Amino acid sequence: MHKDVKKVLVSEEEIVKRCEELAKEIKKDYESKNEIPLLVGLLKGSVPFLAELVKHIDMDIKYEFMDVSSYEGTESIGDVKVNLDLRSSVKGIPVLLVEDIIDTGRTLQEVKRLLSHKGASDVKVVSLLDKPSRRVVDIQADYVGFEVPNEFVIGFGLDFNQKYRNLPYVGVLKDECYQ
Ligand code: IMP
Ligand code: MG
Repeated sequence: MHKDVKKVLVSEEEIVKRCEELAKEIKKDYESKNEIPLLVGLLKGSVPFLAELVKHIDMDIKYEFMDVSSYEGTESIGDVKVNLDLRSSVKGIPVLLVEDIIDTGRTLQEVKRLLSHKGASDVKVVSLLDKPSRRVVDIQADYVGFEVPNEFVIGFGLDFNQKYRNLPYVGVLKDECYQ
């Protein structure tokens, strides 16, 4: 375990197993509608999760990335800023957004709105983690890996000051790391 980590909340084995389950559900749902989703990962946090998930989705899916951020200085209730946009059109395409964690839900609400505006035929969400106790907007993921308590978590894509994204598990930092 990394020296800065206080405890592991979700182990690598648990994540891999859950990705297999989610992938099966996703395949079943989309196949029943005769659709193939375009997976859209939100940078940078979704990268390890997307990489694990797609290995287990037994369909000819494609994936793209977007980078969005809230407008600085505001507790954004409005738009998000698009730092890196999609390279191809999503018009008429069912999109499956891939997120690391849903916290307040604001990011996801805005990105869903944006993709619908761009003409996606459907926008669903798969998130590795969900912190439902922190939600301020009425939004839910269609597929969730794990529910986590109201604690700041790092690892498997999640960062603190851009660090710890490469840890192969989800954990909580020791208190002194925040000082
Ligand atoms: P939301 O718009 O509040 O739902 O923000 C979600 C984003 O905030 C996530 O995509 C993460 O980048 C970040 N975030 C929220 N909670 C945590 C956490 O516990 N650890 C690391 N990043 C987090
Ligand atoms: Mg994020």
